[in-house]
Amino acid sequence: MSEAEQDVPVITIDGPTASGKGTITRLLAQRLGWHILDSGALYRLVALAARKHGIPLNDAEALRDLAEHLDVEFVPDAASGEILTLLEGEDVTAELRTETCGNDASKVAAIPAVREALLARQRAFRRPPGLVADGRDMGTVVFPDARLKIFLTASAEERARRRYNQLKQKGLDVSMRDLLDEIAERDARDRDRAASPLVPAADAIQVDTSDMTIDDVVNRLWELSQERL
Ligand code: DC
Repeated sequence: MSEAEQDVPVITIDGPTASGKGTITRLLAQRLGWHILDSGALYRLVALAARKHGIPLNDAEALRDLAEHLDVEFVPDAASGEILTLLEGEDVTAELRTETCGNDASKVAAIPAVREALLARQRAFRRPPGLVADGRDMGTVVFPDARLKIFLTASAEERARRRYNQLKQKGLDVSMRDLLDEIAERDARDRDRAASPLVPAADAIQVDTSDMTIDDVVNRLWELSQERL
C-alpha cells in the first residue's frame, strides 16, 4: 500500500447477512461525504457472471478467472440518480439483490482464489476523503489498518423480519419461515468457511442493532467516527 493510500481513512462495517450494513454504510458515508465499498456486490457479480457463462459454482479456477477479469461499471442513472450496476454492459442492478444471487455469492465467496482475485479491486476503492467499507472481512483482511471497525449484529429473527419487510415492499411473495432458514444457512456458510470467515476483528466494536432504529445506529457510528478521526 502506498503512503498516500494509507493516509485515506477507512471505516469498516462487517456483520452477518441482513444486519443492516448496506443501509447504515450508505447513510454514514453520505454524512461524512465519503466513498462506499459494497464488497458483497462484487461476490454477487462473480456469481451472476458465472451463471451467465454457465460456470459451475465450485469450479475454482474458472471462477478466479472471472473474478480477475470482471467487466463491471457503476454508473448513475440519468433519470433517478440511482447508481446502476452494469455487468458486461448489461444492467443487473435488480438481479444482483435477489436472494438467489446472495446465496450463490455466499458459495463463490468460500473459494480462497476468488477472494484473493478481488482483493486489489476492493482496496482500489480507498480514495480521498475516505471510505466506508461494508462486508464480512473488511476489518480483518481487506483494511486491517482501518481507523474504526464496526461489527453489526442482530438476532436471526430480527434480520429475517427486516428482510421480509424489504422484500414485501418490493412486492415479492416470501415466507418468513423460508427466510429464517436461508439466513441461518448463509450465516453458517459465511462463518464456518476456512477463507476469511465472518468473525469480528479483535479491535472491532460490536453493535447489536436488534432494538435500535436505523437513525440510532447511524448516530452511534457517527459519534464513534468523530472520536476516532
Ligand atoms: O453482503 P451481501 O449479502 O451482499 O453478501 C453476499 C455474500 O457475499 C455473503 O453471503 C458472503 C459474501 N461476502 C463475503 O464473503 N465477503 C464480503 N466481504 C462480502 C460478502
